[in-house]
This record gives sequence, structure tokens and C-alpha cells, in this order.
Amino acid sequence: MDVIAGPAAQTPSLARNIEMQESLMENSIPGGPRTNRRRVHVLTWGCQMNVYDSTRMVEAIAPLGFSETENPAEADLVILNTCHIREHATEKVFSELGRLRLYKEARARKGNRMVLALAGCVAQAEGEQILARAPYVDLIVGPQSYHYLPGLVLRAQKGETGIVATDFPPESKFSYLPLKETEANHRKISAFLSVQEGCDKFCSFCVVPYTRGAEYSRSAAEILAEARTLLAHGAREIVLLGQNVNAWHGEGLDGRTWKLGRLIRALAELPGLVRLRYTTSHPRDMDADLISAHAEVGVLTPFLHLPVQSGSDRILSAMNRRHSRADYLRLVERIRKSRPDITLSSDFIVGYPGETDADFEDTLSLIRSVGFAQGYAFKFSPRPGTPAANAAAQTPEDVKNLRLKQLQAVLREQQHAFAGSCVGRVLPVLFTDKGRHPGQILGRTPYMQPVHVTGPTTYIGAEVSVRIEHVHPNSLSGVVVNTSPS
Ligand code: SAH
Ligand code: SF4
Ligand code: F3S
Repeated sequence: MDVIAGPAAQTPSLARNIEMQESLMENSIPGGPRTNRRRVHVLTWGCQMNVYDSTRMVEAIAPLGFSETENPAEADLVILNTCHIREHATEKVFSELGRLRLYKEARARKGNRMVLALAGCVAQAEGEQILARAPYVDLIVGPQSYHYLPGLVLRAQKGETGIVATDFPPESKFSYLPLKETEANHRKISAFLSVQEGCDKFCSFCVVPYTRGAEYSRSAAEILAEARTLLAHGAREIVLLGQNVNAWHGEGLDGRTWKLGRLIRALAELPGLVRLRYTTSHPRDMDADLISAHAEVGVLTPFLHLPVQSGSDRILSAMNRRHSRADYLRLVERIRKSRPDITLSSDFIVGYPGETDADFEDTLSLIRSVGFAQGYAFKFSPRPGTPAANAAAQTPEDVKNLRLKQLQAVLREQQHAFAGSCVGRVLPVLFTDKGRHPGQILGRTPYMQPVHVTGPTTYIGAEVSVRIEHVHPNSLSGVVVNTSPS
């Protein structure tokens, strides 16, 4: 088994890796890398950052001649980009690996090699155990090591197996993964841009600090350059990503440390940008400047995903969230004062160890007093290695199921009430895609609700006024109007 050297040896090891990558590319691909077409099939689970990472991994291996395929049977390389946030993650990976193994064996019978690579948070958390159980996996690569991917893939293609790259390198992968002018970035009207990664908060239930590592903020110059590239390729909306995006504090253009509000104001100046969003935020990092950006920056959408997890002070403290119910309610009040039409979305966990009926009632009452336009409820899932997984008072499964249903019903009610309040209004809709039916196009309101209308595809990429007419289970529909949005 090959493990990339520990932190002390990382910088020389990266140099060696890049050197080797270059020499392998020169030596192993007759006629240069681009003439040898190879196919990569990528499966992505989890959060938006995994979606972003998958694009960057495909870009990183493009110089080796790889382009994407939807068909695993013809793939020379399959990457599983995995998520570890809740249970069944590992089982899901194993069932997918079992399926892919058959393709790999079929290819081997024809004398072709399929490299099977496991990436993402499951790779980081359980990569070596998976390799022990599924030795037909060739390569394990953690989220902070994607810049090693070309070299690792070349080694695997040459027949090496059991390759593991899950140490946290001291250098940032971003410095070695510049956004490329590739097909992957073309024609995405709404584009993701990772600005921050990792987390230092250590909520007692969460694996992210272990799988993504310590908080890291990219520099403003790097982010602005990437945003310009995305806009040049047709993006109209940019979604800033981070596990704790509002904790972003990177080097500013003036050499000083900037916070997210400042970065947003700089991005808002870029020509062509119609909408700007950021996700996911922690309540503790919503500072005054960021809150006032919501009042002052026109392109910033009036929508904020602000997870609270619970409405009970006892549970919030056990979760190590380091904010109280009252802190959250006060924060919502300040945000709404700054941007009165803002809509909020949140995440909730039910059945955290020791959660009583009264604690759960506190969560329901918080939801009722805030009023969310969207919400996501999850059953507490004990994650190996997190403090909450070992708590004695685990909540029985049937109680969790019941609370989940109750909470989802309240959230659905609020979502539908908000959707209903949009009927008859003229809203600016940014169209991003063709719809499922001929003549239909799809977009989103500023509040993130999907909208479909009948209209020309020339509207894709534009923000157009739409009168909302109907509410559907997960979307709205309406007609394009000539009046300006209200
Ligand atoms: N950084 C974000 C959340 C990242 S994880 C934040 O701080 O809020 C996305 C969501 O998954 C969390 O908001 C939480 O609601 C849920 N989640 C995380 N760990 C979980 C666990 N062990 N069990 C159930 N839900 C969990
Ligand atoms: Fe996980 Fe978010 Fe808490 Fe960080 S702040 S530990 S990512 S829930
Ligand atoms: Fe999942 Fe890792 Fe994202 S655990 S939610 S893929 S940070």
C-alpha cells in the first residue's frame, strides 16, 4: 500500500509528485496527452462543494486526455465522490462499488483497465478500511489532495493498486488547481465557486472538521479571478461555497484580511454578474458588515440558508453550537431589518441524544416564530469519531421517525404558505435551463424557488419578469410579462 508521506515531508513530496506527473505524461502517452482519448465517469454525492470538486477533478485530469462519459462501461477511470455526513454513506459506496466491479471485470476480460478511484469525505474518513474490504478499488484520494490526482491516476493506470492519499497537505490544493477554460465550465448560468473549506467549529454531531480539515480561506485575488473566468464563460449567478462560508477571512486585494461582506462588495462590481449567493453560513459568523451587505448590494439575493439545528438551548449547548435560541432569533431580526424581503432557510436535526419532547417542542416553536421559506430536517445520525456518537442517551428510532415527520410537515406548510403568497406577484426569474417539456424553460425566483414557464430558450441566461400563477409541489409556474418586477 502506498501512503503519501506525512505533513513534514509534504512539500518535497508534492514537488516530486508534479515532476513525476510531468515525466509520466511525456513518456507514457504517445504523441502527447491530448491525442490519447480516455474516458472518466464521475459519480457525485453530498453537498454543493462535492459538485464543485468533481468539476475541478475532471479539469485536473483533462491534460491526460480524459473527457467525461455518462456510461461507466466505457470508462477508463471511475471516480466516486462521496459524502459521509449521515448514515448509510459507506453502505451506499459499497453497493455502488459492487456494481462498478462488474464493469471493471468486463473491461479486464477485453484486456482494458478501469481504474476505480474513491474520493470525497468517505474516502477521507474510511478509505483504508474500504480498501481492505474492496481491494479492487485502486485509489483513495481525500478532499485536500485532489491536486495530486493526475499523478495518482497515472500510477494506477500503470497497474499500481492500493494507492492512498488522505493526509492533509500543508499547501492548498487551490494553488495547484487553477480554473481551466474547459468544457466543464461552459454554459453554466449558475456556477459554484469555493471560497472557504473546512471547519474549526466541531459541532458535536458533525464529521466535517475531520473529513475536510481545518478552516481555510482562499485569497480575494484568486476568488475574483475565478469569478471573472466563470462570467466570461456565461455564468450569471455565482454561488460562493464553504462549509462555513461566512467565516471566510482571506487575504484582500490590499494585502489585509477581508471578511465576507467586503469580498461580496468586490464581487458585486464584476460586469455580467446578475446574482450572488453564499452557502452555508453559521449564525455566529453573521457579522454587522455582512448583514448590511444584504441591504446595500443589489446582486445579493434575498435568500439566506442559516442552519440552526435546534430550538432548545439545552440541545444547542450539547451540540456545541455556541449560540442560543435567543441569539438566533435576534440575528434573524437584525437580518430582516437590513433586508426586509429576505427569506430564510435552515437545517434541523431531530433526535439528538437526550432530546426530550420539550426540547423538540422548542424547535417547532422556533420554526413557527421565524417562518422559513425552506427547511431541511434530518434524523440524528451517530457519526463514528464524533462526540455525540458515544453519548449514552441515544434517542430511539421510532421517536426520531415521529419527530422527523412532524417537523417536515411544519416546514412543508411554511414553504407552501410562502409559495402561495407569491401567486399574482411579478418576480424576476433568472432562467438557467430548458424544461422537461418542449417549449418550457426553467429558472429561479430571487427566493430560490424553481419556476417553469413557456418561453424561448433565448431567455436562458437572462433575468426576466414573470407573473407567478400556480404553485406545484416543488416549484412554481407563471407567464413572462413585459412589466418590470415588483
Ligand atoms: N456547515 C453547516 C452544515 C454542514 S452539514 C452548518 O454549520 O450548519 C449539513 C447539515 O447536515 C447540517 O446543517 C446538519 O443539519 C446535518 N447534519 C450534519 N451532521 C449530522 C448528523 N450527524 N446527523 C444528522 N444530521 C447531520
Ligand atoms: Fe459541521 Fe457546520 Fe458545525 Fe462545522 S459548523 S462542525 S460544518 S455543522
Ligand atoms: Fe458530505 Fe463532506 Fe459535503 S460529508 S456534506 S461531502 S463536506
